[in-house]
Amino acid sequence: MAKQRSVYRCQECGESVFRWVGQCPSCRAWGSVVEEAASAKTGSSSWGTGGVGEIDLAFVAEDTPVPLLEVQTDEAHYRATGLTEFDRVLGGGLVPASAILLGGEPGIGKSTLTLQVLHAVAEQRVGPSLLVTAEESKEQVRVRAERLAALSPGFLVVAETSVPAIIGHLHAVRPSVVVVDSIQMVRDPRFESAAGSVVQVRESAALLVAAARELGVAVILVGHVTKDGTLAGPRVLEHLVDVVLLFEGDRHHAFRTLRGVKNRFGPVGELGLFDMTDRGLLPLSDASEVFLSGRQAGVDGSAVAAAMEGRRPVLVEVQALVSSAPSGVPRRSVTGVDPNRVNVLAGVLEKRLGLACGRGDLYVSIAGGVRVTDPAVDLALCAAIASSATGNPLPEDFVWIGEVGLGGEVRSVAAIDRRVAEAARFGFRTIVTPAVAAEVASRALSSVVGEKGEECERPQVRGVNGLVEGLDLLLG
Ligand code: TYD
Ligand code: MG
Repeated sequence: MAKQRSVYRCQECGESVFRWVGQCPSCRAWGSVVEEAASAKTGSSSWGTGGVGEIDLAFVAEDTPVPLLEVQTDEAHYRATGLTEFDRVLGGGLVPASAILLGGEPGIGKSTLTLQVLHAVAEQRVGPSLLVTAEESKEQVRVRAERLAALSPGFLVVAETSVPAIIGHLHAVRPSVVVVDSIQMVRDPRFESAAGSVVQVRESAALLVAAARELGVAVILVGHVTKDGTLAGPRVLEHLVDVVLLFEGDRHHAFRTLRGVKNRFGPVGELGLFDMTDRGLLPLSDASEVFLSGRQAGVDGSAVAAAMEGRRPVLVEVQALVSSAPSGVPRRSVTGVDPNRVNVLAGVLEKRLGLACGRGDLYVSIAGGVRVTDPAVDLALCAAIASSATGNPLPEDFVWIGEVGLGGEVRSVAAIDRRVAEAARFGFRTIVTPAVAAEVASRALSSVVGEKGEECERPQVRGVNGLVEGLDLLLG
């Protein structure tokens, strides 16, 4: 029999090394490498610690190959929870025997969201829902549930941090859905290390996911993420689960987004929009309305963009403030969009239009605390920056759609029809689009306006090839 070698693993980044070292060779953290108990490996989901020579073939075989054509599926077994925005991101609802990782910064509303999910499922009375609370006491959960009017007889709660005990509860209760809040606070007693370490998080998650599969329970693991958006500690978790959801938002705003970053059962990129109120999270049915409320008229540096969030068009206000720096290094502050993108666009505006926005201070943000990754907001960003740099306000009833290239050219973007339809719905009068997309935009508008009746006047589409043409009204 081959002798089992110990494995040493960094508690910060999960890197494994074959001897103890004081500094992790991968993430350079000091004192983070610890020995993992090799004996506890048997039957666990971890990668083997040795080479192929150590594998016992008879032990490994769990299945025999069959033609894929003969594999039975029971597809589309989503069970809608009734929380529309949550179901939308999942592609329809929870899938029995599946595992979801719900990540988000502390305080963003993960416990609130999962509590509402558990309540909604319990109300369907197909089976109990179970909350394993490892961070808050049952009393705290009860107080919150009362405030949210989320108390139903089928909603069970247990305060537990030991993974085998949690699995025991799953066998006893057989819930339709279980939430473990949070995965960083539970422990597998086979391992020495503290809760929240890479080993604990990974091994605990593996056991819970395996139990959920066996019992046909949908499991939601709540996980804290660090500021830079990665799950605290192990990225390994993402491979263990079927779905990874990120709950995001600016803590100082009430607006929250739920984003699917991995989904084995459906599309990713779909976005759920919520409003955090004193009655919990409410679905945000009209996002554009929320984001455009509070827009000031006649102020320079403001432009409206039509961004796609998942399959939904959302109108957002892009704000820019350019001021000449008195001396030293100009300051840049960007929220809601990629700062690198803003730097590039400021460079393009300076080079192609001769605007002095590259030398002074530059502040850019998206109103309402929303984050936009859609390149179609480039043109609105340029319009807002150019408007602030020249001190000329843009016409209030304009919407700007287009990606901007390094040459100052305005490029086409996806889903132009849905974007212009949303702009028309809000009564915007002029829609600036890439020239190549102008015809598609006009056609989309004729059908939208037709649906709405005569009183709604059809907006004008202005197709532009480049920034110089698009921003001529600012440049004089
Ligand atoms: P919570 O769900 O505890 O966040 P997480 O589990 O991600 O750490 O929510 C924390 C914040 O949400 C808290 O600061 C208060 C706010 N909140 C509301 O605004 N309304 C509510 O109804 C609830 C329950 C919380
Ligand atoms: Mg919490």
